[in-house]
Amino acid sequence: FEKKNVWNVEEITALLDEENGTLDPRIYSDQDLYELEQERVFGRSWIMLGHEAHVPKAGDFLTAYMGEDPVILVRQKDRSLKVFLNQCPHRGMRICRTDGGNAKSFTCSYHGWAYDIGGNLVNVPYESEAFCEDFNKAEWGPGQARVETYKGLIFANWDKNAPNLREYLGDATFYMDHMLDRTEAGTEVISGMQKWVIPCNWKFAAEQFCSDMYHAGTVSHLSGIEAGLPEGMELSDAKIPTVGYQFRAKWGGHGTGFYVGEPGMLVAIMGPKIAKYWTEGEAAARAERRLGSAERARQLMVQHMTVFPTCSFLPGINTVRTWQPRGPNETEIWAFTVVDADAPDEIKEEYRRQTLRTFSAGGVFEQDDGENWVEIQAVLRGHQARKRRLNIQMGKGRSAADNPHYPGSIGYVYNEEAARGLYHQWIRMMTEPDWDTLGPK
Ligand code: FES
Ligand code: FE
Repeated sequence: FEKKNVWNVEEITALLDEENGTLDPRIYSDQDLYELEQERVFGRSWIMLGHEAHVPKAGDFLTAYMGEDPVILVRQKDRSLKVFLNQCPHRGMRICRTDGGNAKSFTCSYHGWAYDIGGNLVNVPYESEAFCEDFNKAEWGPGQARVETYKGLIFANWDKNAPNLREYLGDATFYMDHMLDRTEAGTEVISGMQKWVIPCNWKFAAEQFCSDMYHAGTVSHLSGIEAGLPEGMELSDAKIPTVGYQFRAKWGGHGTGFYVGEPGMLVAIMGPKIAKYWTEGEAAARAERRLGSAERARQLMVQHMTVFPTCSFLPGINTVRTWQPRGPNETEIWAFTVVDADAPDEIKEEYRRQTLRTFSAGGVFEQDDGENWVEIQAVLRGHQARKRRLNIQMGKGRSAADNPHYPGSIGYVYNEEAARGLYHQWIRMMTEPDWDTLGPK
């Protein structure tokens, strides 16, 4: 590792005690850990940047982030994708300062160095008059990341030794397909990316989407559900399901959980139109054929999921987001909505409306979630608060890898097994210098 570590391997490993189910809260607040994360987690993991539908045509681009590193994602003329550092190698200015668009080239706004859409330096003002003999444009393009896609989602990785994306996702793809592969047409995005900042560590959000159905089944969202109940529906009709599963990936820190069978909560969150689309009729039957079982297609209701480290989404609700770290105490959330590409326009419009109302910068459930994370972060300013280890025991020793229908380690829907998996992976990435030992093998 390049960065000198003030935390040694034993100390980082001790942040999570899986056997006893405790977690050291400094994992959320320590500046030194945060800086190590940038190199060891964000410098080596597959980071989700957007959806293929964000950049359909040659020259279409998005500016995004891998950890704190700004990048440009560009569709090439041969349909491939490139991701390169959004930093001009001349004096370090951001090459591109807009959120996205279509470009033939990128010109740095400081001294005008210009790059083609592949990230090659192609023009330098006063090159022959002003530069030197050993100046070689070919050597001065920005650093390139690896890019791969999974069913529409685009991921990038700086580490040439990292496993390919499919291997990295492992058994998590089975659960990603619940949202991404319900029709042969795949998914598209409802245009626009919402971006907002909240004062908390990114791991609260990643962990909750990975492993926490408990807050939805208990207190956090009850008032939001009550406030937005569809006409004619009482809170008692919006029965909170009690049947469901949680998955912890065999390797990689990915996790998900979902309810099975009881549509009340999906109706209460997304309204009857979407619940009907998701569970009845031709679209649901087609999903059942593709996914191979009714339980996975029609009966699967609300699902939370995180692909380690920062790609999270909610199948059924269909919001997708990435948690961009901005220091130990701040996260920038980038969110968009996906929908079956061949869904009727009316359903696409309903997804737009309902995800805005529920999970967006102004969404009712987003407020509930953010409120919890921000309050915990504020509490962690205290010295005593950072000393006491937190409880992460739920479901300890109760998940097993022998479910005939679901891959990975499977337990009851209210569980913290996937959270333990997420922190286990985080610790391994923070402490293992080498992919040979880091896996997945
Ligand atoms: Fe980009 Fe000088 S910093 S051209
Ligand atoms: Fe929530």
